[in-house]
Amino acid sequence: MINHEKEIMTILSVNVDHVATLRQARLIDYPDPVKAATIAEEAGAEGITFHLREDRRHIQDSDLSRFKEKCTTRLNMEMAAVEEMVNIAINLKPAQVSLVPEKREELTTEGGLKIDENQNLLEKYTKRLQSEGIKVSYFIDPVEKYIKLSKQLGANAIEINTGSYSDAKSQEERELQLEKIKTGCTFAVMEGLELYAGHGLNTENILPLLEIKEIEEYNIGHSLVSDAVYLGFFQSVKRMNDLIKNR
Ligand code: PXP
Repeated sequence: MINHEKEIMTILSVNVDHVATLRQARLIDYPDPVKAATIAEEAGAEGITFHLREDRRHIQDSDLSRFKEKCTTRLNMEMAAVEEMVNIAINLKPAQVSLVPEKREELTTEGGLKIDENQNLLEKYTKRLQSEGIKVSYFIDPVEKYIKLSKQLGANAIEINTGSYSDAKSQEERELQLEKIKTGCTFAVMEGLELYAGHGLNTENILPLLEIKEIEEYNIGHSLVSDAVYLGFFQSVKRMNDLIKNR
C-alpha cells in the first residue's frame, strides 16, 4: 500500500477479558485470565491485552499485578479516559494503554473514541501516561478527522476499530468497510502513527486485513476464547498467531 523503509513486525495481542467473564459468571477463581495469558504467550502471542472496566464486569483489580508479575510480553491495558483508570495505569505501568470509549450498558466496546468531544482531557491524560513511560493508543473509527486529531493530541498509535467491518451483514457492506479501513490505514501511516486493529476479528475475517502490511498489532479476544472451547486456548491462539506471522 505504502512504500515503507522500516520492516513491520506484526504481532498478536491476546485479549483475555472473556476468560475473566467466565470466571465472574460464578464469582470463583477460575478460569484465570492470567494463566490464560501465559498460555497465550507460550502459543506465540507477543502481547496481552486486558480491559479494566469501570463496572469491573470481567477483569478485577486483583488481576493487574498478577499480569505484571507473570506475563513476559507487551502488556496493553484498555481503559476509559477517566482519572481513576489513569491513576491505576500509572501505578501498574503496562507498556501500553489503549484509550476506549466506555458505556456501562453496552455489551462490548461500541464504536471508537469521539476524540473531538474530549480533546482537552485526552491530551492531558496522554501526556501524563507518556511521562510515566507508557505508550498511548486511541481506539478510533477509520475517519480522517479522528486520525488527524489523534496525531495532534499526541497519541503514539491508533487502533482502528474493525467492528463495523466484522459485523457487516452483507458482502457489499463488508467490502465498503474494508475500503474505509484501508484508507484510514494509509492516512494514519502518513501521519506517522503506529497502526493497530481490532474488534470482532476471527480466523476468517482477518484474512483481507492481513494484506495491509502496515498494521503492527492485532488485538483479538472473543473469537480466541470462543475457539478455545473446541480447540483449547493454546491451539486457538497458535492458529491465529500462525496466520498473522505467515501473512
Ligand atoms: N480492541 C478494543 C479496543 C476492544 O475494546 C476490544 C474488545 O474488548 C477488542 C479490541 C477485541 O475485540 P474482540 O473481543 O471482539 O476480539
